[in-house]
Amino acid sequence: MIDDENMNTRIEIRESAPCDLASIEKLYPDAFPEENLLPLVTELLQEPPIILSIVGIINSSLVGHAIFTKCGVAACTDQVALLGPLAVARAWQRQGIGSAIVRAGLQRLESAGVAHVCVLGDPNYYGRFGFEPEAGVVPPYPLPPEWRGAWQMVSLRSSEPPLRGRLSVPKPWLQPGLWAP
Ligand SMILES: CC(C)(COP(=O)(O)OP(=O)(O)OC[C@H]1O[C@@H](n2cnc3c(N)ncnc32)[C@H](O)[C@@H]1OP(=O)(O)O)[C@@H](O)C(=O)NCCC(=O)NCCS
Repeated sequence: MIDDENMNTRIEIRESAPCDLASIEKLYPDAFPEENLLPLVTELLQEPPIILSIVGIINSSLVGHAIFTKCGVAACTDQVALLGPLAVARAWQRQGIGSAIVRAGLQRLESAGVAHVCVLGDPNYYGRFGFEPEAGVVPPYPLPPEWRGAWQMVSLRSSEPPLRGRLSVPKPWLQPGLWAP
């Protein structure tokens, strides 16, 4: 159980368990009414190599979820993760839950020795966790110009030489539609 300093409510953040699946299946259509991310989420949850799937629980209800997938960059032995998707139930958005989940996830990955975490998302949101626009590591598919600033990375430890190359992602992420507007 953690008390996030930005939150008035106590939130428990823990790794997801098989018993969370029904709640996760309700969460995504609620958080993303115009996008069907459930096939991606269920595939990621069924197939390794997922690094971390964490949920936020308030008063026994699952209110948020995030997945960190194990990826790689050619010729580099450092562990690299991809954050996504991240979802918070509509009724609970903008109350610090997404932030608490991302921060807890990054802490756990750092303890597990993960060196870098990539994300495709709004820099105004992910910048607060240390993510910065990334040019050395490129996404698996080219992004449209208006999305370039959305490709970001945070380093939890340094790499020498700095990481360069295309991010290799596991099969569920190999869908061009996930990387285009
Ligand atoms: C995006 C999302 C995960 C953020 O989680 P949250 O718990 O609502 O956000 P937090 O309370 O931690 O953070 C709130 C801050 O994020 C900003 N924010 C919330 N949603 C945002 C979004 N979609 N884009 C950019 N900023 C966003 C708020 O403006 C607020 O900023 P402030 O602190 O400067 O006022 C959540 O709103 C959500 O699930 N949205 C729908 C799905 C989605 O768009 N997911 C994107 C990630 S793949």
